Amino acid sequence: MASAKSSQAVEVAQWSDRLLRWQLVHGRHDLPWQNTRDPYRVWLSEIMLQQTQVTTVREYYARFLQRFPDVATLAAAPLDDVLALWSGLGYYSRARNLHACAQKVMVLHGGAFPRDAATLQELPGIGRSTAAAIASICFGERVAILDGNVKRVLTRALGFDGDLAQVAQERALWKLAQELLPRDDLNQNMPRYTQAVMDMGATVCLPRKPSCLMCPVADLCVACGEGRPEAYPVKTRKLKRTAQSLWLLWAQTRDGAVWLRQRPASGGADDALKSVWAGLHCLELFDSFESVQAAVPARWHEGLQELPVFKHVLTHKDLHLHPVHVALPASLKLSEQGHWHAADAWPALGLPAPIRKLLEQQV
Ligand code: ADE
Repeated sequence: MASAKSSQAVEVAQWSDRLLRWQLVHGRHDLPWQNTRDPYRVWLSEIMLQQTQVTTVREYYARFLQRFPDVATLAAAPLDDVLALWSGLGYYSRARNLHACAQKVMVLHGGAFPRDAATLQELPGIGRSTAAAIASICFGERVAILDGNVKRVLTRALGFDGDLAQVAQERALWKLAQELLPRDDLNQNMPRYTQAVMDMGATVCLPRKPSCLMCPVADLCVACGEGRPEAYPVKTRKLKRTAQSLWLLWAQTRDGAVWLRQRPASGGADDALKSVWAGLHCLELFDSFESVQAAVPARWHEGLQELPVFKHVLTHKDLHLHPVHVALPASLKLSEQGHWHAADAWPALGLPAPIRKLLEQQV
């Protein structure tokens, strides 16, 4: 079985001591979600940071906290308001889970986040690593995080060449991650250690051309010793990507109102896109230009204008989006489920980012 090349390669005690000292001097200390142990703030930042860059999260995080300053406010808000503020961050299941989680914290835990990773992990949208981040940062629990960045740091340091696409190998790495945690003064050291491994992954132990000269544990690192840090982590399974073409009917009135239909909460059986954009407001979607035409009464067919196709990349799929613009009278209804939204109203709705970008253009 592939595994760490040498369990002694990383001196366990030295590892956490060095990272803790490094974090104090070279780690990040001024991110908006740092310098707090408020689990609401830490949770919110961790969910946002799951699939989004720090620079983007900064803006959204501030706006979100302004509108929803605590878990009770978030739980009491309509889901549509949450989705609207999330608009542009992508991966909207995060926003739906965020809202569901806030409500569970209110109902099941009296408005206080659980203080241990095992209980946190039972809440919607909180996986093992996120639970560990919250519990270690807020409550000093001795639990390991293992997100993509940390996997890279640890597999390199340990020379762990197991295939992380295999559950057993990932489990083995979790176990090693746990063994490397600090053992003393956990209330102070756990938050700093968690931040240290994140910061290492984000600023030193980079996917390409890692800065081994700046690394506080380079002399302990198997991959660095081998001179091939980029060989880790090993992951064989490739994402199977598919492509799909969709036609977007961009119907507009003379006053700039736009026809939008709110997508079902979690997709429908008839729905080629399944759960993508669930709950968001979207242009009417079709699978061909002919079906766009069929949805518009014949007397307006002449006004259908095909705009340049653009690509939107999802995790498993490239969407080739074909916008078709048409000017229509506000008296016309395109479907039972959709509505006209006035020019000053639609920007505040939760819209998929590529749709918002499209609508902000002038035709
Ligand atoms: N990525 C995930 N969690 C993070 C955090 N707390 N700070 C910076 N980047 C992160």
